[in-house]
Amino acid sequence: MARAPRDPLGLVRAEPTEPYPFTFDGRPLTALPGQSLAAALWAAGILSWRTTRGAGAPRGAFCGIGTCHDCLATVNGRPNQRACLVPVRPGDTVTTQKGTGRDTPR
Ligand code: FES
Repeated sequence: MARAPRDPLGLVRAEPTEPYPFTFDGRPLTALPGQSLAAALWAAGILSWRTTRGAGAPRGAFCGIGTCHDCLATVNGRPNQRACLVPVRPGDTVTTQKGTGRDTPR
């Protein structure tokens, strides 16, 4: 009887292809196909990609399952995208979301 592969990719029978590019606040990064935005940002060492409305405190992923909305980011100009759920697509332009993402400068 063959032994099951021991590495995580083998366990799920994943065959990742080449990473593709996207940018975060103008910084070129890469993501694997199907990788969530939060996972890709974490892999690049980025832990915060939103600031709160009032105090401007930094936020990133908290629950990781789409419930808390702490991980909101602006993707291709669309604010309020949950980074823990949204897969990165080739060429995505991601920016830090400030406040509601729809705030206009006064
Ligand atoms: S980390 Fe909670 S909704 Fe994304």
